[in-house]
Amino acid sequence: MKALVLAGGAGTRLRPITHTRAKQLVPVANKPILFYGIESMVAAGITEIGVIVGDTRDEVMAGLGDGSRFGASITYIPQDAPLGLAHCVLIARDFLGDDDFVMYLGDNLLEQDLAAFVGAFEHARQGEQPAAAQILLKRVPDPHRFGIATLDDDGHVVHLVEKPDDPPSDLALVGVYLFTARVHDAVAAIDPSPRGELEITDAIQWLLDHGERVRCELLTGWWIDTGKLTPLLEANRLLLERQEQRLDGSIDESSSIEGRVVVAEGAEIVNSTVRGPVAIGVGARVVDSFVGPFSAIGARCVVERSEIEHSVLMDDSSVIDIPRLEDSLIGSDATVRRSAQKPRALRLMVGDHCQIDVE
Ligand code: TTP
Repeated sequence: MKALVLAGGAGTRLRPITHTRAKQLVPVANKPILFYGIESMVAAGITEIGVIVGDTRDEVMAGLGDGSRFGASITYIPQDAPLGLAHCVLIARDFLGDDDFVMYLGDNLLEQDLAAFVGAFEHARQGEQPAAAQILLKRVPDPHRFGIATLDDDGHVVHLVEKPDDPPSDLALVGVYLFTARVHDAVAAIDPSPRGELEITDAIQWLLDHGERVRCELLTGWWIDTGKLTPLLEANRLLLERQEQRLDGSIDESSSIEGRVVVAEGAEIVNSTVRGPVAIGVGARVVDSFVGPFSAIGARCVVERSEIEHSVLMDDSSVIDIPRLEDSLIGSDATVRRSAQKPRALRLMVGDHCQIDVE
């Protein structure tokens, strides 16, 4: 079994952060989103991993390296333009050979034991009616935004449709798929959709139309497509909730640490209260401040005389003299500061596609 991880694409919905950074490398609980996917592959025993890369290839390749830090071996497959999920399978043909593979969307986070997902597929393969593919489904309140599956009375997949105006069910395809080599016939046969992409839903529908069986499993845990701000903060919350307290940095006597807080090596907490779940990154400094639940403060950040809650600060940023910062995503190397300069005013240098809510 191999893995194909999709880390190309445009990331338009997370601008301005993704003007300068691959969306799959945005940190959640102080770790890039993509790392969680790679780690769960390796935990499921899948170590031969192909990674599709696009315009942000340099950054993705610098982040993942040759895969050895994860116990994996990574092969990079460049994609010239984001021409669709099925296009990724098409261009990965040489890497995949005739092996079965897991396809994983690099910007998705989910609470799913991948080993169990693969195990169910392999177990079913030994049965009378082996499947050519397996999909993971989750009930969603807004099915028109997703690829949607229809099942028959026995729970078999009979039909798939991409972002339907009139959804036939509320079962959305989650960003993890399992395929046998038969999928290569499908991705070679389908045409681009009206939005110009080779759709993976069309490829799976092609398999169904050609008499193949497609298994499905229902995801009971959470699943987050992190491409937008609100789900990103939610993913940050869910992952911080899972961490245990670990205090490797220094905490002075006038500070208080409450609950599941990680203070990484070289970080300093001075005269401050940190109320978990919170992650404070390597070399960060928190001085005369309050850092409240569901905050992730990146490496080498500085927080002084401020209160922060339910926010992500990416590496090397500063928040100084801000009485209250909530529900925010601050990019790397950014500064948010109250100044004493007169006349009193907001003075901003704001990048394209930013959103600023003034109290
Ligand atoms: P999407 O979120 O469907 O697309 P996108 O990256 O273009 O994002 P946006 O809608 O914000 O502009 O992509 C899902 C994942 O698959 C994501 O990690 C990017 C990756 N991908 C590719 O690698 N190649 C592709 O051709 C496409 C469409 C996506």
